[in-house]
Amino acid sequence: MSDLDQVTLNAGDKSVVLPVLKPTLGNDCVDISKLTKETGLFTYDSGYTATASCKSAITFIDGDEGVLLYRGYPIEQLSEKSSFVEVAYLLVNGELPDAAQLKAFEAELTAESTVDASINTLIGSFAKDAHPMAILAASIAQLSAKYHASLDLADEVQRRQAALRLIAKVPTLSALIYRHSQGLPANQPDASLDYVSRFLKQTFESADGQYEISPAVVKALDLLFILHADHEQNASTSTVRLVGSTGANPYASVAAGVTALWGPAHGGANEAVLKMLEEIGSADNVESAVLKAKDKASGFRLMGFGHRVYKNFDPRAKIIGVMTKQVLEELGVQDPLLDVAVKLEQAALQDEYFVARKLYPNVDFYSGIIYKALQIPTEMFTVMFALGRTAGWVAHWLEQQVDPEMKIGRPRQVYTGYDVRNYSK
Ligand code: CMC
Repeated sequence: MSDLDQVTLNAGDKSVVLPVLKPTLGNDCVDISKLTKETGLFTYDSGYTATASCKSAITFIDGDEGVLLYRGYPIEQLSEKSSFVEVAYLLVNGELPDAAQLKAFEAELTAESTVDASINTLIGSFAKDAHPMAILAASIAQLSAKYHASLDLADEVQRRQAALRLIAKVPTLSALIYRHSQGLPANQPDASLDYVSRFLKQTFESADGQYEISPAVVKALDLLFILHADHEQNASTSTVRLVGSTGANPYASVAAGVTALWGPAHGGANEAVLKMLEEIGSADNVESAVLKAKDKASGFRLMGFGHRVYKNFDPRAKIIGVMTKQVLEELGVQDPLLDVAVKLEQAALQDEYFVARKLYPNVDFYSGIIYKALQIPTEMFTVMFALGRTAGWVAHWLEQQVDPEMKIGRPRQVYTGYDVRNYSK
């Protein structure tokens, strides 16, 4: 934090005093909302590298120190002591639940976990090899149609119910999408199970309802969902907020968030990492992969490396790195890709190119190896990310709806086209 309370910007013969906002944690922010009115100037910041788009009390990241807090709680403590459902409650409500509140929340999620049978018609209309993220976006968009008429965004109870429905139904949709890709019949979530076990059973149970729940698998998936649950104003959350700022309903906003997450620079990186590791194939090829990643002309980047905010380490990657070895051991899985990943990480961390640019493994570097060990197909990896991130998306949407400063998101541009010209042929 600086000592500045305001900054003065001189623009030719005009000058404007801009207040400096003081966050609880993190960098001070110059409030430029008066700038255009008083000077006629806009600001330009491609990729929003220095722009805060909202005030938020949900998640804090210190990229230099590798800190990630949900509602003030360090990610390391939540990963060790909490559960995904408890974290979802925390993100949405602002405080950790007591035992009775947690039980009631779990019961609400269970009650909301079913989806209308018409969803199966929609999912069934896609080719079996259609990308699951396309189907997930479409099926969440279908929820927006189903609940649109009955949704009063001014009603706090209805807003909360919509948020809960999304957290409850995204796993069910994900399971149905997986089953469709495998040619398995559609099924119902098992209401007797907890959130993660319910998702696993619905996903993997055989046509005659058999699935043996492994506590190690449940624990691993629960932890991955916690780590993915929120990450402040990342591209998909900002998309949810941008769509939400128009007054669109939360299902439509989250469907847009899913499409933003899909890209390989964002959540799609977990799928891209596994494909990259498979292509590298063996630890012997790591050196040439690092060389290629440094060659801008190759168009190849080390997937799972680098982050806009983390410039020291990604705390989620640290947790996942340790967990990967444990999970593989517990499940008795030996994956040669783990050796490739370890060697690649070591090589990049010692390389001047990556050191100078502060590029470290991010959350996606090892998560794919765990998902693979849990027998989740590569194309489903980003769906797993979306499942966890839904909790964060709806928490941000809820926060935005009661923000007195909320306006429709509408950036300006630096126009680079023609000056006015006359139409003549
Ligand atoms: N491999 C090789 N070079 C890289 C990489 C990489 N993975 N990431 C960044 N660079 C270089 C980049 O070429 C640039 O070099 P120079 O300064 O010489 O032009 C410099 O590092 C800065 O990169 P940038 O693209 O300006 O940084 P950014 O903040 O705009 O992008 C990023 C961040 C995550 C999109 C980028 O690091 C990347 O493409 N990483 C690979 C994809 C990936 O793993 N994405 C998952 C992000 S974490 C999960 C999530 O929250 O979504």
